Amino acid sequence: MGILDVEIVKGYIRLTEDAVAKGWHERNGGNFSYRMKPEEVEETRPYFRTPGEWQEIGTSVPGLAGEYFMVTGSGKFLRNVTLAPQDNFAIIELDETGTKYRIVWGLEKGGRPTSELPSHLMNHEVKKQVTGGKHRVILHSHTPNVIALTFVLPLEDEVFTRELWEMATECPVVFPDGVGVVPWMVPGGRDIAVATSELMKKYDVAIWAHHGVFCSGEDFDLTFGLMDTVEKSAEILVKVLSMGGKRQTITPDNFRDLAKDFHVTLPECFLK
Ligand code: 13P
Ligand code: ZN
Repeated sequence: MGILDVEIVKGYIRLTEDAVAKGWHERNGGNFSYRMKPEEVEETRPYFRTPGEWQEIGTSVPGLAGEYFMVTGSGKFLRNVTLAPQDNFAIIELDETGTKYRIVWGLEKGGRPTSELPSHLMNHEVKKQVTGGKHRVILHSHTPNVIALTFVLPLEDEVFTRELWEMATECPVVFPDGVGVVPWMVPGGRDIAVATSELMKKYDVAIWAHHGVFCSGEDFDLTFGLMDTVEKSAEILVKVLSMGGKRQTITPDNFRDLAKDFHVTLPECFLK
């Protein structure tokens, strides 16, 4: 029995495989974090090493003080997570102020957590609060069709939500709250983390213009499934636009009927 036999670790690795197979993670593109449950920390603790030094997160997440996360390494290729998990992701512990982290497992050949750690942790902090602790997964992927759309659609939440909803009937059921859009910003810092986590108060999906997508969810299946649904819908829209645009579509009243039967609330701001 080793840490790689622990169910939650197996699930974490499987998501990276699935996301790489989708073509969302060229080179070191994208990153992935999971907020561990206390019992999962205890299951993996026997394999922890003497912790490294406390390091600055680069932002403050007091709502996550003392929590443990599985997180991919900066500059590490997601396709290598399966081959050498111990070198490509880490388990980190946050300090009691929520401003520092230290590595307790993994990244054995050196390195540090993803450069997007501020965004991941600020998103986790918001989601922990607004979902009463249910959401635990944040996935950042470089999904080609969503990225392509950020060059042609207005960078507005209402436009992206409505267009993506129209491209697949199940979309409004999968992400009834809609999607948010962050204009182009320098990645890897606190400013983009603040902008993204602000959108995460309302949405489970935040699109980074000309860069990629952040998705939040309760577990690996739901979060991967959400990213997959958004990207597939974007792919359909790219095809539709390439064929000359829509000749017919799902109407606002169709969406209202769907909402009734599927017991979801669709904000009227997306149905104008
Ligand atoms: P990292 O290699 O630091 O995770 O960065 C990849 C990325 O997608 C930045 O947005
Ligand atoms: Zn990225």
